[in-house]
Amino acid sequence: MRIGILGTGTLAAALGEGWSRAGHEVVIGGRSRVKAEKLAERLGHGVLALAPREAVSGRDAVLLAVSWDGVEDMLGLAGASDGALEGTPLIDPTNAVAHGVGVLLTEHGEPMARRIAGLAPGAHVVKAFHLFPAGRWTGAVGGVPSSVTVAMCGDDSAALRVVGELVRDVGGTPAILGALDRVRQLEEVAGFVIGLAFAGFDPNSAVPRVP
Ligand SMILES: NC(=O)c1ccc[n+]([C@@H]2O[C@H](COP(=O)([O-])OP(=O)(O)OC[C@H]3O[C@@H](n4cnc5c(N)ncnc54)[C@H](OP(=O)(O)O)[C@@H]3O)[C@@H](O)[C@H]2O)c1
Repeated sequence: MRIGILGTGTLAAALGEGWSRAGHEVVIGGRSRVKAEKLAERLGHGVLALAPREAVSGRDAVLLAVSWDGVEDMLGLAGASDGALEGTPLIDPTNAVAHGVGVLLTEHGEPMARRIAGLAPGAHVVKAFHLFPAGRWTGAVGGVPSSVTVAMCGDDSAALRVVGELVRDVGGTPAILGALDRVRQLEEVAGFVIGLAFAGFDPNSAVPRVP
């Protein structure tokens, strides 16, 4: 697939590595051209740095790997309000969560995925990849059996299929929780998971195993 990654930080690097190693064509768009070029060079595998607008053009999927409060700026740079992402699966991994206490930071608890959908008209937003530390996605390529379930929400079944494939390609198992009307629940789980991790507990141990 042709994948555009917006952002040049930890998650962009991890999924950029995982997907390019899995054979996808990856381009990186950052607000800093220098950081995008450095990351592309580090990743190798033919990964290119482009301006954000070019990085989203003609892609099979786009990952919005920026801080929650940088989403609006980055989507602006990508031309989202002009329809640059129309029809494109847009992966939202953002966590607008206060680390340590788990409180959602968006006003009135507005889900980030809904905010992103509003900022990118016509994009098929899929919430995914927000619950695991980035490092999880760099070690599983090469047929290592999956051990993590990636819960996702989205309204478009074709986009969910595309993102599901990208989850599998980095060693995860996609699990569709529901449409975007359930995404708030999925975003609040991040507060729970991060809160337990900060308190020194393994979040896995707090989720019942249903036979
Ligand atoms: N790291 C993880 O383990 C992990 C796991 C799950 C989900 N996430 C989520 O994934 C997203 C990215 O996380 P990360 O760890 O990769 O963060 P990070 O390493 O801090 O990188 C943040 C990225 O956002 C960009 N950015 C920040 N403000 C911006 C703005 N106003 N306009 C344009 N770009 C802006 C930064 O650009 P500059 O470098 O130019 O500042 C950088 O490329 C976050 O929403 C995070 O909650 C992260």
